[in-house]
Amino acid sequence: ETVALAFSGGLDTTVSVPLLKEEYGYDEVIGVTVDVGQPQAEFDEATETAEAHDIEHYLVDATEEFADVCFDAVKANATYQGYPLGTALARPVIAQKILDVAIEHGASAVAHGATGKGNDQLRFEAVWRQSDLEVIAPIRELGLTREWEIEYANEKGLPVDAGNDGEWSIDSNLWSRSIEGGDLEDPAHVPTQDIYDWTDAPTGETATVEIAFAEGVPIGLDGEPMEPVELIETLNDLAGQYGVGRTDLMEDRMLGLKVRENYEHPAATTLLAAHEALEGLVLTKDERQFKTQIDQQWAEKAYEGLLSVPFVSALEGFIAETQTAVTGTVTVKFEGGQARPVARESEHSVYSESAASFDTEGVLGDITQSDATGVAKYHGFQGRLANTSGETGTDT
Ligand code: ARG
Ligand code: SIN
Repeated sequence: ETVALAFSGGLDTTVSVPLLKEEYGYDEVIGVTVDVGQPQAEFDEATETAEAHDIEHYLVDATEEFADVCFDAVKANATYQGYPLGTALARPVIAQKILDVAIEHGASAVAHGATGKGNDQLRFEAVWRQSDLEVIAPIRELGLTREWEIEYANEKGLPVDAGNDGEWSIDSNLWSRSIEGGDLEDPAHVPTQDIYDWTDAPTGETATVEIAFAEGVPIGLDGEPMEPVELIETLNDLAGQYGVGRTDLMEDRMLGLKVRENYEHPAATTLLAAHEALEGLVLTKDERQFKTQIDQQWAEKAYEGLLSVPFVSALEGFIAETQTAVTGTVTVKFEGGQARPVARESEHSVYSESAASFDTEGVLGDITQSDATGVAKYHGFQGRLANTSGETGTDT
């Protein structure tokens, strides 16, 4: 019997290998690491750990597919409690790849190293439970703690990263880097600089970048066309130098637990700000307002790892319709740790300079300023009636 394990090389997956054999009786464990843009060091660690375990190890590239999901999130201006959802967006992609490998290699089960307190277990299993394969969650089912795992790994002579990964639980992909656990579990503790890896502390330096969008999708930087993966990586690097994209929040997990989470996401912050700025230019007020509700529902489902439900397809119908106008460019300025849109242009602009300007009389066609007088007289009419029991300004 073979089990395919979601394999990052981190502590949870490291201890899962012997547990799947000893506690669950599997003859063979195959490790599957899915590339969603995490740093090279993580693959090296995964490969090293797989070798130490002497297990089959498969590396599956899903970076391009994942970048497309990130851009779906841009179209939906998606954040959850201020976090741009990197981990959440990646989990279903990872889960599907692992399932594919498991089936291909005749495995009868799939396993993950997520805990019974978090979101990831739910996101993985929502995908896996659509198959007939057995689903195993050793950390959750055996009720393990990090402390126990470290001791167990040491006993077994398994590699445990003595550095940051021991101190905090870190999850990185193209879209965000999350840091949790350790001293960060105290919400009153101020994070030390060493939790950050993608962002430098903001200085007085500034820079600007021009982002091109086609139908809501980022397609280039500073006039140069760019593929999604490269565009995200470039912006992570650039915006990160200006300290853009740090979030420190109290996050409400799906199970109801409140946790303290820190994130880094320079590219996501930049692209989300730019996209929303462009929507501000090209969408009508009703579209913008209603879209915030659609976007919020989309983000909620993304957080839950449930983007493949029919409800989301329906939401995406509305989103797609609005995005046909979201073509143009936005200039973003990096300053003081912020990514601030400072200029926007589009052929689909709903803005008329001559109509809005203080310098011109013309509004649109034959409409003039004085046409607003009648509107101004009526504005607040019901309120006046209500406040004076219908007596207001009736006759003089
Ligand atoms: N709380 C975040 C989420 O649910 C990220 C969790 C990432 N995991 C980690 N071990 N840092 O999307
Ligand atoms: C975990 O519990 O395995 C990580 C955090 C999460 O899934 O939310």
